[in-house]
Amino acid sequence: MSRLVVISNRVALPDEQGRPAPGGLAVAVEAAMQGRDGLWFGWSGQMSDTPPPPVTIDSGPMKYVLTDVRPQDFREYYNGFANRVLWPILHYRLDLAQFNESDLEGYLRVNQFFAERLSPLLEPDDLLWVHDYHLMPLALALRARGHANRIGFFLHIPLPPPDLLTALPRHREVVGALTAYNLIGLQTANDASNFTRYLTQVIGATTRDERHFYLGNQHFRVGAFPVGVDAEGFRSLAQQSAQGDFARQLANSLAGRALLVGVDRLDYSKGIVNRFDGYERFLERNPAWHNRVTYLQIAPGSRSDIPEYAEIDAIVNAKVGHINGRFGAVCWVPLRYVSRNHRREDVATVMRQARVGLVTPLRDGMNLVAKEFVAAQDPADPGVLILSQFAGAAAELGAALIINPHDRDALAEAIKLALEMPLEERRSRHRQLYAALLANPIRNWGQSFIEALLQPAPASD
Ligand code: G6P
Repeated sequence: MSRLVVISNRVALPDEQGRPAPGGLAVAVEAAMQGRDGLWFGWSGQMSDTPPPPVTIDSGPMKYVLTDVRPQDFREYYNGFANRVLWPILHYRLDLAQFNESDLEGYLRVNQFFAERLSPLLEPDDLLWVHDYHLMPLALALRARGHANRIGFFLHIPLPPPDLLTALPRHREVVGALTAYNLIGLQTANDASNFTRYLTQVIGATTRDERHFYLGNQHFRVGAFPVGVDAEGFRSLAQQSAQGDFARQLANSLAGRALLVGVDRLDYSKGIVNRFDGYERFLERNPAWHNRVTYLQIAPGSRSDIPEYAEIDAIVNAKVGHINGRFGAVCWVPLRYVSRNHRREDVATVMRQARVGLVTPLRDGMNLVAKEFVAAQDPADPGVLILSQFAGAAAELGAALIINPHDRDALAEAIKLALEMPLEERRSRHRQLYAALLANPIRNWGQSFIEALLQPAPASD
């Protein structure tokens, strides 16, 4: 059986006992391997002026190969083009995109550099699976080095309509370069349909069925492969950790108040400020709930060198102070804000104790927090999920309270509805949500992607 070679900017390394990293990507990649040998290539997270040869870590059938990048690469490729141009544009935030030629050059250069370092490690029948917006032109760079392998690409974040994609200068060299892959996977049918329009209306590809595309003598496929979670695994993690010290301390600290929870990376796409506004409106309109509710927002920081992230950090901190100053009392903090990273089992504990989960991104590829919140609930007394209509997960989790995160009145109303929802309705919504998780188990994602990647081109080619 051919090897599976995974390439991503961040690599999820196993722990010291060789167990895979707990994140969704690592677990899903593990499931996709199906007994194959594998190699995972990516950035080491380190910088050096002259990157030494890549470091290889052997872990059972999986090898991890990590390379440093130069400080200039980090600035132009990671902080620059990937996270100040592609990230905002793909999240529909043209207003935040900071395009300049040198960052694009840095991005293209790092993709060439990855190809150069990966090239000698590849065997002709390896299957390659490239992840996320950092590495869109990688297949083209590998093809130029003569690699005719089947190469798939999966975009973990949203893909907007052509009008936004074409606002990116030289978009053909980046988004258009995806046509060098054999298969391009998106999170939702909406993303796939946006991409189809870009391919046909902008790039001039043709398709009869919106799955197979033709451009010159190239053939490639496009499909939606929504990422799932290990619902049963996360449920038992939440169940077990409900007995632990952390769970007891949390319950004591709440003193019987209803818990609302949000867990997000600190990012403007997550809608944390809008969510705080909605909570403020809820408190304004519902004095009866004062001192009976606590909202805990966990938001570890990321990409801290990037000005837009420093800005969101300052705005969020100011809002927390404002809400607590306005509504708090000596013995009640209405909004707890924590920017530390938490262990997976602690997040599961918090979710299980919560009466309401707030997942209200302004735009999100999928949002696995929404799915994990559902998985963590006690089916006999489940909490309620409030979910943005702009999260990819909304396509599967229609039984949540779906809201427009820009509408603070709707959010305030949904919080009240969720807190006051009768047990029967909570159970019934949770049953439907949990069934949706089971319908798309984590192993499906990798398996269906690999199956599609292995399919030969249609006979008519
Ligand atoms: C999103 C992206 C990932 C990225 C992660 C963390 O989930 O889809 O590719 O790794 O954010 O961001 P960071 O910049 O810290 O890698």
